[in-house]
This record gives sequence, C-alpha cells and structure tokens, in this order.
Amino acid sequence: RSNRPERLRSRPAVRVVLGVSGGIAAYKSVELLRLLTESGHDVTVIPTAAALRFVGSATWAALSGKPVADDVWSHVESVPHVRIGQAADLVVVAPATADLLAKASAGQADDLLTTTLLTARCPVVFAPAMHTEMWEHPATQANVATLRARGATVIEPAVGRLTGADSGKGRLPEAAEIFALLGPLLGQPVGDLTGRHVVVSAGGTREYLDPVRFIGNRSSGIQGYALARTAIARGARVTLVAANVTLSDPAGVTVRHVETTAQLRTEMLAAAAVADAVVMAAAPADFRPAEPSESKIKKPADGSAPSLALTQNPDILAELGERRRHNAAAGVAPPVLVGFAAETGDGQASVLDQARDKLRRKGCDLLVVNDVSGGAVFGSPDNEAVILGADGSSYSVSRRSKEDLADAIWDRVLALFASAAKPDSADRLAT
Ligand code: CTP
Repeated sequence: RSNRPERLRSRPAVRVVLGVSGGIAAYKSVELLRLLTESGHDVTVIPTAAALRFVGSATWAALSGKPVADDVWSHVESVPHVRIGQAADLVVVAPATADLLAKASAGQADDLLTTTLLTARCPVVFAPAMHTEMWEHPATQANVATLRARGATVIEPAVGRLTGADSGKGRLPEAAEIFALLGPLLGQPVGDLTGRHVVVSAGGTREYLDPVRFIGNRSSGIQGYALARTAIARGARVTLVAANVTLSDPAGVTVRHVETTAQLRTEMLAAAAVADAVVMAAAPADFRPAEPSESKIKKPADGSAPSLALTQNPDILAELGERRRHNAAAGVAPPVLVGFAAETGDGQASVLDQARDKLRRKGCDLLVVNDVSGGAVFGSPDNEAVILGADGSSYSVSRRSKEDLADAIWDRVLALFASAAKPDSADRLAT
C-alpha cells in the first residue's frame, strides 16, 4: 500500500528463534518464517522431532537460509542448547502444542527447543494450536497462566476449522496475524495507533421469534473484522464485538460474541467507556418481536399465518452519541465515534443528504456512507464509501478492499486524535 511507509517506522534486524512444535499447524509457520525473513530478520528455526514429521528440515533450511537447529547432539562443541537462547532477541513458538506448553511451564529441557526456552532472556511468544478440549483443559489453562505470569506472551488461539471436520477454539491464527502481533517485539513496525484502545462492532444481530427462528440481516462482518485487523496491525489494542459472524477471530483482538441488539448494546456501552475510538460497523436489527415465544411457533392448521408484533430496539450509536455529548459537556474527553450508514436515497433526498442528517441525529464524529442501492456491498470483499465528518468534511474512498477502506477510516480517526490532546482513556467513564 502506498501510504504504509508513513505509518510504519523500520528498525534493524532482530535475531529470532522460531520454535515449531509437533502439530499439523506447523505448515502455517512456514509462511510465518517467510514473513520474518522477508522483512530482514535473522531467523533460526528449531523444530521439535514431532514437528519434523509434519514439515521437514529442508523446508525450514531453505526458507531461513541456515541449517536447521533440531538436535542438542549436533555441533556439541558450540554448545547450541545454551548459545541459541542466549543470543536470541525474540523467541516465537508457533504452533505451541499442549505438550510444549506443559514442558515450558514445568521448565523441562529434553530437546533443543526446550533448552532454548530456559536459556532465553528475551521476550518469548507462544502461539498455541490444539483441539478445543485440550486448550480448555485445566492443565493447559494452568500452564498458560504460569507462562503468562512469568512474562511470556501466550496468544489466544483463533476460533475456526481444526484438524478434521470439527471446528472450535484452538486454531493457530494466520501467519500474517501472528506477524502483525510480533511487530512491536520485532522492533520493526511501530504503528500509528500504538497506545490507543479502539472498539469495533461487526456483523448483524438476530432477534428471536422463538427458539429456532429469528429476524436477521445480510451483514457479513467482513468490514468490521477488517477494521479490527488493520487496527491491530497499526498497533492499537482492539476490542471487537461480533454479532453472528462466521469469520475467524483475528489474533490479538479481544472478541466478544453476541447475538441480539440488546447483547450488542451491553458489550458496546461497557467497552466504549474505556475506549479512544468506537466504530459501529455492525448492523443491529432495529426491531425485535414484542413477545418472543419460548417454544417453537406451530403452523396454524387452518392455513392462516400468525401476525408478528414488533417493538423498536435501542439505537446504540445514538446512545453512544448522547453519552459523547454528555461527557464532552462534563469535560471528560469522549471517544471518537464512527457510524456507518447504508443508504439508498429516495425521491426527495440524495444518499449524502440523508447521511448528513443521520450524522447529526446520531451525534457521531464520522459517518461512513455506503450507497447500497444495488445491494452489492453485502458479503463482498470490496467497498466504496464517503466518509463524512461532523466538521462538514467529506472524503471519498473509491472502490477498494474492505481492508483498505478500514485503513482510510483509521486515517480519519487519527486526524481527529491529532486535533485533540491525547487524554487518558481510563478517565473516560461515562456517567
Ligand atoms: N445502529 C445502532 N443501533 C441500531 C441501529 C443502527 O447503533 N439499533 C448503528 C449502526 O451500527 C450504524 C448506524 O447506526 O453505524 C446507521 O445504521 P442505519 O441502519 O443506517 O441507521 P438507522 O437508524 O436504521 O437509519 P434510518 O433512520 O434510516 O432507519
């Protein structure tokens, strides 16, 4: 991307040890190795014996450009089991299996990777990958807690497809996501959102008629997830509130899964109270059944259709906008508030007229306006928009990936941060 270099500042190469333990996700570490070496870092790969059954030495050696360190008994004269750890600036273990986490937590040292973990005094990052049951087992959770208490970073596994047909929490995040998380530790990319906490909502809410049926909408969550991923890559701390999204959770993001507008509201109001910016990219259902049935509604035998009474849901963005005004009046710096508007225009008002009116009504700083007349935006990887500002500004973003639109939105948010002194987000509690 053309404007990337302005957002990132480069620093010298880092000596990275990439530990690979024996899980099927070892193949994803090949991509991580490539990202590390291509960004100029000096990487020594230490696969465990089990890892080598998934991906062989030749792959690691070719991509790291050095012999693979897989054995404490080779080159004993150079004492590799001590030297590699001592010389490292960063140790990353990806994937970290349940067994590897247990060994590291117990301080066992029966191969080159575990001896390296004991001798390293640099930052250590584990990216676990295993089946959900193994991840959730109290033994694994205790090992993770021990490692974190000792100062190691243990990345939360992603949710998604596991080894077989099953899915759940335990997936190794994508290599690019792990790489983005390593950014500050690699001393390389310093993102322009570093030190900021941003909250993003994504997806579409569901309002249940009965235990099996709901009113929903076509929002895929792709734009909200792109906002979360780009914010993490630019150094922010990110909370993502996701409504009924089937995408994998982005690595390093705190994700809260919700179904209904009421749940989305609760999570958003709580997270927004300690945020620097809030982006409402979700499509909350505006209405819910007035009296949802506790049991499945049966088809009337007489061929008639039941009528549905609806009641209006709270408008979360408007409520956040109201808090914003209230906090600003009380001298508490409010978070920057960004809304989305899907408009079609009508006979009287153009898409942008309607959007300006919405921006005022909802009290946000920025409104990202999509013209959805053709319905093309839903589920699409691309988007085009106009970003309207409460200051009267208007910024057109031509058709591009939702990731690039997300970056353009963060650029506008950053401009608003810059125009206000950075306040302490912890003070930003709504009254
Ligand atoms: N929004 C919200 N809570 C709702 C409905 C919408 O926070 N109950 C937010 C959306 O996340 C989005 C913005 O409001 O950021 C605009 O949503 P849109 O559906 O376009 O607005 P409506 O209020 O439904 O607009 P209209 O008055 O045109 O119906």
